[in-house]
Amino acid sequence: MKVAIASDHGGINIRKEILQLMEEMNIEYEDMGCEDGCSVDYPDYAIPVAEKVASGECDRGILVCGTGIGMSIAANKVKGIRCALVHDVFSAKATRLHNDSNVLAMGERVIGPGLAREIAKVWLETDFEGGRHENRVRKITDYESR
Ligand code: RB5
Repeated sequence: MKVAIASDHGGINIRKEILQLMEEMNIEYEDMGCEDGCSVDYPDYAIPVAEKVASGECDRGILVCGTGIGMSIAANKVKGIRCALVHDVFSAKATRLHNDSNVLAMGERVIGPGLAREIAKVWLETDFEGGRHENRVRKITDYESR
């Protein structure tokens, strides 16, 4: 699995925590910024990460900003992206099992690095359940193709 990851200035600390986690999990990643000390616009980071996933160059994406909201809104504009804004471990597992989410968004002003690490770990480890959920996800991709 290869993961594209980025944050704006509001999410740098959690991004670093997740980079460390992916090192420990031996997961390949592409760190797409931003630089320390920057002040940037979250769409400039969310959209490139989402495009990496939509193109198949990366399998999953992780985005962090202050709330996670801006990142998730922007990422979900890219065709093929199912970005889940998650701040609890239950939802991290559920959105992989049921929604086959391919991008995870979190907010550093909402949760701390310890919880973010647990969320990312569960999200990275959980496979899509398929079955009855396949048809539900297909209805989303069908709509995108109209
Ligand atoms: C940046 O100040 C902040 O707006 C951003 O990190 C994010 O929370 C937007 O949704």
